[in-house]
Amino acid sequence: MRIAISGKGGAGKTTLSAALAGCYAADGVRVLAVDADPDGNLASALGFSQELIEKIVPISGMKKMIEERTGRSQDISGFFRLNPDVSDLLDKFGILFNGISFLSMGTIEKGAGGCMCPANVLLKNLMQHLLLDKDKDVLILDMDAGIEHMGRATASCVDAFIAVVEPGQRSVQTAKSVEKLARDIGVKNTFVVCNKIRYPHEYEILTDSLHGLKILGSISYDNCLIEADLMSKGILNNQGLIKEAMRIKEELEMIQS
Ligand SMILES: Nc1ncnc2c1ncn2[C@@H]1O[C@H](COP(=O)(O)OP(=O)(O)OP(=O)(O)O)[C@@H](O)[C@H]1O
Ligand SMILES: [Mg+2]
Repeated sequence: MRIAISGKGGAGKTTLSAALAGCYAADGVRVLAVDADPDGNLASALGFSQELIEKIVPISGMKKMIEERTGRSQDISGFFRLNPDVSDLLDKFGILFNGISFLSMGTIEKGAGGCMCPANVLLKNLMQHLLLDKDKDVLILDMDAGIEHMGRATASCVDAFIAVVEPGQRSVQTAKSVEKLARDIGVKNTFVVCNKIRYPHEYEILTDSLHGLKILGSISYDNCLIEADLMSKGILNNQGLIKEAMRIKEELEMIQS
């Protein structure tokens, strides 16, 4: 299963991505966590040390490799391969940490060519081939805030979107836009996770406002998560978060089965 985590800036996409990756890995599932946010911090949330973070090279930045695989580097003029070989990229460039494979996509430039530049073609192929066993393995894509910025081609390879919503109507609005854009690119399932819930009425208002969208569950507001971010610490040892994320995972599995 491939899941893209989207939503308004700061709503908790990276928090949910890391927590879900941790839950799947804890259950012995092969999980690939992909940071698709050019300004991302998923590795940090997963608990990577600063030293390990410094070793990460985003796929899109590997100009030479992209050129070798596609036959062309930057521009879209001329011909380039539409089916570059990507089968070895995860082994070569992925980082395995605590049972979670991690890849950073880097900046997916749009420019006049939209999604059809060599780097995007390579990324799309990579997304399609990253999972060895589509039924068993799980890919979690931590998106950047603006869904318009993401490579639509890349995101169209996912089975479901999860829009993270925090208490606030702007966040609800973004979830609705995510659902529409997901449909536009052919992804039928958009689910919602409500995050940063402090009081029951916040969850109730969100569920009322989100009618029509399937809510997988919620994550409580927790100051420890702010503190972890502040100190660049991982969040997978946060028992409360993992317990709530496990419930979300189970709900997702129930729907998918
Ligand atoms: N349930 C929560 N309780 C308290 N703080 C939270 C919670 N979830 C996330 N946060 C905090 O909110 C901030 C934003 O969270 P996170 O980075 O997961 O959001 P994001 O949607 O990935 O943001 P961005 O759009 O910048 O990528 C972080 O400081 C994080 O620690
Ligand atoms: Mg993020």
